[in-house]
Amino acid sequence: MTDTHATPPAEPVHPAGDRPGGPTALGMPALPAPPYPPEVRERLAADAREIIARYPGSRSALLPLLHLVQSEEGWVSRTGIAFCAEQLGLTDAEVTAVATFYSMYRRRPGGDYQVGVCTNTLCAVLGGDRIYAELQEHLGISGGETTEDGAITLEHIECNAACDFAPVVMVNWEFFDDATPESARRLVDDLRAGRGATPTRGAPLCTFRQTERILAGFPDERPGAVDAGGSAGHASLAGLRLLREEGAPPAAAAAGGAAPAEPAPAERMAAEHDRERREHTPSSSDAPLATSDSPPRDRERRAGDGPEGRK
Ligand code: FES
Repeated sequence: MTDTHATPPAEPVHPAGDRPGGPTALGMPALPAPPYPPEVRERLAADAREIIARYPGSRSALLPLLHLVQSEEGWVSRTGIAFCAEQLGLTDAEVTAVATFYSMYRRRPGGDYQVGVCTNTLCAVLGGDRIYAELQEHLGISGGETTEDGAITLEHIECNAACDFAPVVMVNWEFFDDATPESARRLVDDLRAGRGATPTRGAPLCTFRQTERILAGFPDERPGAVDAGGSAGHASLAGLRLLREEGAPPAAAAAGGAAPAEPAPAERMAAEHDRERREHTPSSSDAPLATSDSPPRDRERRAGDGPEGRK
């Protein structure tokens, strides 16, 4: 994939001018926004049509359309908001409300690499706070700011469900696990020097705008990118190891199964756990019916509860 936007512009590159069309479909005033150049608009409109066609209702395409405009400019500008609104028949206010709600949408130009340090509880106590503080000092910027060379935008992020690899740093939402202040400094230095960096797991790193096009729903055509995966962490698999040590659960034995020779997928273990929990804590709607196999005490209690059973 080729990045044709190595350095994000400080301002939209389009010529200034009023948005064509005036007020939006609902009569709301349109934000003043310079239009995209005709060739850009035509290209984005074709992409937008492809995205919108995937949904039964066009407004459902708003999130990927916001990613699409971010892939063009590196942030959601007024021009991008106006474009989304026009494509979907929404007001600028409706699009703005969504774009400002989700932290994945930038409200100002940013760098090629969005570096997020998890400062949620577990990562924080294991070093995330220290990494975040050291990166601010090392880069000479505060959270939410971008380095002068346009390479790095630093932010703190909430839990990304990778707590067993804490503390976690993410670059364009790819994982860099078990980070330290030293590894985080090396990471941003490598990115700024153009040496690149390899995530601990998952797809190879690409620039923010390239990532945004993938998030808009277009294929990641880099060789091997889609197949690149990762594994659940040591802590996530602890329950599975215990299960194997203690033998197959009753549910597996009843089904004629034996403990698998290899670790079962985490999903299977979660399903078994869920089934066992339901069997032991029945709700009012799924309580087992009394049968000839029911324990005597259970049958007696049910008999005693009935009108004929009461003395
Ligand atoms: S607390 Fe950082 S990934 Fe969960």
